[in-house]
Amino acid sequence: MQRDIFEIIKTRRSIRRYKKEIPDEVLIRRCIEAACYAPSSKDSQPWSFVLVKDKEKIKELSKTQPYSKFLENAPLVIVALADENKSNHWLEDCSCAIMLLLLESHSLGLGACWNAVYLPGTQEREEYVRKVLNIPKNYRVIANVGLGYPEEKPLPKNVKGFHELILKVI
Ligand SMILES: Cc1cc2nc3c(=O)[nH]c(=O)nc-3n(C[C@H](O)[C@H](O)[C@H](O)COP(=O)(O)O)c2cc1C
Repeated sequence: MQRDIFEIIKTRRSIRRYKKEIPDEVLIRRCIEAACYAPSSKDSQPWSFVLVKDKEKIKELSKTQPYSKFLENAPLVIVALADENKSNHWLEDCSCAIMLLLLESHSLGLGACWNAVYLPGTQEREEYVRKVLNIPKNYRVIANVGLGYPEEKPLPKNVKGFHELILKVI
């Protein structure tokens, strides 16, 4: 069923509980493909992804930081990387790509959740993930994204109203 993009944006929620099956390969490819259409500084497209299906590796990723535990039960973790030699804005670039990945996964009936690896001021968590997955040093590790068929249905989001969002109109 084709759904309007505004409806996709409004109904997306972070999903942290998943069914056991790994999502269909076609769906995984669609999510990655969607991510690649993100805007990036000078169109540098500095992102790369590691698809982690290995249960032991996923278990290790679920120990990246205190709020990574939900990954334990994810059938797939997509680790989003940014090559810091390709862009001065690797963090923003890669974050845009992850956002599109989250939206596309939702539009395909999958559930996903961002798990922060990048933390300003320290590369400790990034080092941990680099070591677990044997990732070269030029890649900054932005996030682990848990992905699977959803096993929970969170309530719709409460967001600020238009008048609260606009600081001023000049
Ligand atoms: C930069 C960023 C880092 C996040 N890190 C985590 C995380 O480490 N663990 C987690 O469970 N959720 C994480 N989330 C998901 C947020 O908790 C979630 O987006 C927020 O609670 C709003 O809920 P929603 O995604 O359903 O709208 C992160 C989201 C963002 C954008």
